[in-house]
Amino acid sequence: MARVFSGIQPTGDLHLGNLLGAITNWVRDLDHDEAIYCIVDSHAITIPKDPGELAERTLALASLLLACGLDPERCLLFVQSHVPQHAQLGWIMECTVSFGELSRMTQFKDKRERADFVSAGLFTYPALQAADILLYDTEKVPVGDDQKQHIELCRDAAERFNRRYGDTFVLPQHSIPTAGARVMDLQEPSNKMSKSAASPQGTVLVTDAPEAVLRKFKRAVTDSDGEVRYDPATKPGVTNLLSILGAATRTDPAALAERYSQYGPLKTDCAEAVIAVLEPIQARYAELRDDPAEVQRVLRVGAERAESQAATVLDRAQRAIGLLPR
Ligand code: TRP
Repeated sequence: MARVFSGIQPTGDLHLGNLLGAITNWVRDLDHDEAIYCIVDSHAITIPKDPGELAERTLALASLLLACGLDPERCLLFVQSHVPQHAQLGWIMECTVSFGELSRMTQFKDKRERADFVSAGLFTYPALQAADILLYDTEKVPVGDDQKQHIELCRDAAERFNRRYGDTFVLPQHSIPTAGARVMDLQEPSNKMSKSAASPQGTVLVTDAPEAVLRKFKRAVTDSDGEVRYDPATKPGVTNLLSILGAATRTDPAALAERYSQYGPLKTDCAEAVIAVLEPIQARYAELRDDPAEVQRVLRVGAERAESQAATVLDRAQRAIGLLPR
């Protein structure tokens, strides 16, 4: 059993890339990992958000994660801001990482370009992320490549802290998420599927109705050579469809290629397989959306459990660094 921690921002709707690339594996890994999943609302406010929308999205994301099968009996699911130790250790980590290190974070450089307002929090964000991870004696952090630099910073910070103040933190490792599908945009298959894509037709949302899913797959961009082959470099569109179908049916995508000689049937099968995966999730989601009090209850229990673990580690860190115990 490895201790696994991952954070997910309550921004935008969950799409097929999140589901097949990450969440499906989270659910699968519940049996052999001790998993902690945190909805990182404090990270979300590094870029100003509409207040009503943020709370609503946090609740919706929690409902959707539960609907996807993140069983709160078998993992820890909670909201970051409900557990004050994140902010507390976050500050200590801000004082552990250097200005230079934070300045080298490529995600900051990217986001800074696009933001109208560059908050200090956007800059120190990786320090808070380090706190998220270290508070639970996390061993593995299964996140995408874009987060690797943050996990390395977290590890460096933990090492530095341990060197300065004595053994306090478990050193976490970035782990490649288990064989999740790399789902690309249906309209621009050389880009990862994302909530901020140029065309909404390229992104399949977990909450999309079956007709919308079918339409998006039918319009998926392929190529003109007419051959069904798994080849990410020269056939990104067709390869993406094969990966999605493979992930949805748990079949090897390259082997699937042999079953098709035309793009049309591949697209419809892909849509049908995705619809079949989404159906039970959407049904459960609708139930949970009708019962927000139940979701709030689950989150409250999650936060209580998280807090009792986080408090122990925070206390260790505070004592190590020399803050006077209360
Ligand atoms: N930074 C992550 C993202 O943008 C979210 C996140 C916050 C996270 N804290 C984390 C991921 C801790 C893993 C571990 O996707």
